[in-house]
Amino acid sequence: MGIKNIKVMSKVDVLLGLQWGDEGKGKVVDVLTPHYNLIARFQGGPNAGHSLEFNNIKHVLHTIPSGLFHPGCINVIGNGVVIDPIILAEEIQSLEKLGVNLKKSLKISKKAHLILPSHRELDAASEAAKGKGKIGSTLKGIGPTYMDKTGRNGLRVGDILLPDFRDRYDFLKNKHKEILRQYNYTSNIEQHEDEWFKGVELLRQYDLIDSEYEINSYIRQGKKVLAEGAQGSLLDIDFGSYPFVTSSNTICAGACAGLGIAPHAVGEVYGIFKAYCTRVGSGPFPTELDNEIGEKMRKLGAEFGATTGRPRRCGWLDLVALKYAIMLNGVTQLIMTKPDVLDSFETIKVAVAYRVNGIETDRLPYDINMPIEPVYREFKGWMTDISGFKSDSDLPDELMAYIQFIEQETGVPIKIISVGPNRDETIVRE
Ligand code: GDP
Ligand code: IMO
Ligand code: MG
Repeated sequence: MGIKNIKVMSKVDVLLGLQWGDEGKGKVVDVLTPHYNLIARFQGGPNAGHSLEFNNIKHVLHTIPSGLFHPGCINVIGNGVVIDPIILAEEIQSLEKLGVNLKKSLKISKKAHLILPSHRELDAASEAAKGKGKIGSTLKGIGPTYMDKTGRNGLRVGDILLPDFRDRYDFLKNKHKEILRQYNYTSNIEQHEDEWFKGVELLRQYDLIDSEYEINSYIRQGKKVLAEGAQGSLLDIDFGSYPFVTSSNTICAGACAGLGIAPHAVGEVYGIFKAYCTRVGSGPFPTELDNEIGEKMRKLGAEFGATTGRPRRCGWLDLVALKYAIMLNGVTQLIMTKPDVLDSFETIKVAVAYRVNGIETDRLPYDINMPIEPVYREFKGWMTDISGFKSDSDLPDELMAYIQFIEQETGVPIKIISVGPNRDETIVRE
């Protein structure tokens, strides 16, 4: 057999968040899409809010991958994702208004699980029962849907093609109603059912596929695939600040399980992080700035949730947590977003270690909920508007010193610097 007969195999690159989500994944996936044939979401669901901006359009995607504005690119919602047909239908309709026809470019895994109206109610009931200890969930039904998936009770997208789908739906709904009764939660499920089944009808019109075959066939043909993460590594179900996490594996390994690709098929791992940190919802945040500095970051960075509108908590960059995320994911290239938000800060701090019980450590403690005092290193701010800059040779020395310090500490190059929300506001370093 000659060498010509050996099929070219390309790899799946993975782009994922290294913090608590909202690092700018949507924007950067949109920027990278021209280099790819297929973009795939592998976990999470409509708890995600991925923003894209170009030609004066600002769009927020929840379930649909962020490659859809590039004609010719296929967008796949993988098996690891959980889908709410109501939210997906709304997304599809708002994109149609912008003239984007998804019938050819969107494909959905038959193995993705469905979020029922009752899952959303279970999410709300569970959060209400937790009182002060609530997770701060987006209340999209994510946790209860993944619980039904692992509990082997869930409904999958492919089930909507079965003749007894309605019976299966009713069976699961009634089970949920029992649980809601135990929570003393007044149920309102039926109010949303019509809309939910309309969403299911819409789903039927799309290409429902065995996405693991599709994606593996792409990589066998040497076509380029990019896996788009949702949430961030510090919200990972295993390695995040448990229990204040989401219910899926947000780390790189999640891309293998959530798309059906082998670990050796993973190529570049793009780890994206903000030049500072944010977090929505409850849970520990060692470098949080509950003061006027944090307030200034929130204002300048427009740090309000893309899904819930909640104000995001803000703080300094945390290198202890960033290095942990880089280790878990095997990050090969870093992408830094939003340094422009720090343009008017005279001093910028970065946590380089933690002090826990008086002892300095460079590791995340098992119980990240215990008091942690960050050990900071200070940097001089650049005090320059960098939003229009197109090349890293234009960037101020102080920002370059900040970038080089992060590269040195993490051992990973920062290949892309995003300096504004727009597609064009992106510096790719050679
Ligand atoms: P995602 O969930 O990771 O896709 O991030 P979100 O879309 O939830 O949040 C990122 C926010 O920052 C959005 O409002 C983006 O438009 C915006 N954004 C992305 N990159 C930049 C940047 O480099 N600078 C500024 N100022 N805003 C950015
Ligand atoms: P993207 O993809 C930021 C947070 C919630 C809550 C916790 C659990 O836009 O980065 P869940 O609804 O999953 O049960 O909520 O996780 N969370 C996010 N925070 N960005 C997200 O997604 C998030 N998705 C979930 O705020 O603290
Ligand atoms: Mg977001």
